[in-house]
Amino acid sequence: MVTVRAPATSANLGSGFDVFGLALARPADVVHVEKADETTITVEGIGSQYVPEDPRKNTVGAVAEALDAPASITIDKGVRPSSGLGSSAASAAGAAVALDALYGRETDPEELVRIAAKGEAVVSGEAHADNVAPAILGGFTIATPEGITSMETSLSLVACLPDIVVSTRDARAVVPSELSLDDLVGTVGAAATLTAGVARNDPELVGRGMADGVVTPTRAALIDGYDAVHAAATAAGATGVTVSGAGPAVLAVCQDGTTEAVASAMIDAFAEQGVDSHAYQTIVGQGAEVF
Ligand code: HSE
Repeated sequence: MVTVRAPATSANLGSGFDVFGLALARPADVVHVEKADETTITVEGIGSQYVPEDPRKNTVGAVAEALDAPASITIDKGVRPSSGLGSSAASAAGAAVALDALYGRETDPEELVRIAAKGEAVVSGEAHADNVAPAILGGFTIATPEGITSMETSLSLVACLPDIVVSTRDARAVVPSELSLDDLVGTVGAAATLTAGVARNDPELVGRGMADGVVTPTRAALIDGYDAVHAAATAAGATGVTVSGAGPAVLAVCQDGTTEAVASAMIDAFAEQGVDSHAYQTIVGQGAEVF
């Protein structure tokens, strides 16, 4: 039996739609695998009732098939499904790392990212790697069709998850299919600024680089109270606030020492809109690990 802890992740970070991703130190899924003739999947934990156990419909089943590594797989969900915190990616990444270890394959980690992304396609209809890359490699990742770049960084974060469900498919349907040259220039500038901030562990630069007027506003409209939560987090010490992945979680990058104040401000702002929420005070974390 092999057991792997695979972290929640936050994709996009505003300006890096479908490209940037960050591993969060918590929450996480835990995946147990044991060799078997045929793959079976059991799902326990937070929101497990919403995760199909049929291997043809679960991200993890696609991973086991791609690795040709049949197993009895148990997923203990710590990352709520449809949260914007890379729930399906955590399971897919955890399974990829666990099955690779179980069968002693020693697959290159970038190849494992590609395999886990195939699992993601089962859920979203598209194989994008911006959640599975940080879930496997840890830190900050830049996922492009040409390859994955990963960087270690140190940032204080709050991921506030409202009690709302936004499906990735719905959140992708609202994204504009075209953008103006001005928007392109703005996005490139922001994404470059964010990357420099990550390299310097500088929350001010990262926050400035999270600005995005193209994708984020369309997703924010699906989250009750988003504008109030954004304003409250900023007033409490966040340098940048954006929709985490496809939402509804909201990610705040914080000045050191402000995560507690930012977390309560976000929870209070959601509550004022009649929305319950839970805030994870966290930092940038490691990728999936066997333990
Ligand atoms: N980049 C993806 C999106 C992440 O925002 O739709 C969610 O899977």
